[in-house]
Amino acid sequence: MAETKPLVAVIMGSKSDWETMRHTAETLTRFGVEHELRVLSAHRTPAHTAKYAASAQARGIEVIVAGAGGAAHLAGVIAAHTILPVLGVPMESAALKGLDSLLSTVQMPGGIPVGTLGIGQAGATNAALLAVAILATHRPELQEKLRAFREEQSNKVLEQTLP
Ligand code: RP5
Repeated sequence: MAETKPLVAVIMGSKSDWETMRHTAETLTRFGVEHELRVLSAHRTPAHTAKYAASAQARGIEVIVAGAGGAAHLAGVIAAHTILPVLGVPMESAALKGLDSLLSTVQMPGGIPVGTLGIGQAGATNAALLAVAILATHRPELQEKLRAFREEQSNKVLEQTLP
């Protein structure tokens, strides 16, 4: 039976992150994984962010993806309030091309992990693929979908021709 409750939470620090984070949402949709989308900020809505993270597991969420830019504390703050796996996506910021976002997401002190993906669109897509892989460890139908996705991707590369 298809699962209708969201399994993945996709959080972003600002609506301005959507153009990147929509790639996470679109990839999850492609795999038929129910997810919920929220704008929550570590610094602009700190209490809401903490409450959301602390209650996510009890609502059935199994993986949280958090995208943020600049001094990007969002994934780390969320990870501090839950034992669910948290995947961080650094936004490509205007000032430093995402290096600021990357370092502030990836450099978590030991004890509270954030699985950090690459900067921008590729990272957003890969966060969804990693979330699917985590869910797939106990869902054979998702394992099949991941295998099919990889095969399709390989075939596309092999079909490429050069001038
Ligand atoms: C972060 O600040 C957000 O994740 C966003 O990437 C960045 C800029 O936010 P806006 O000023 O565009 O709302 O909190």
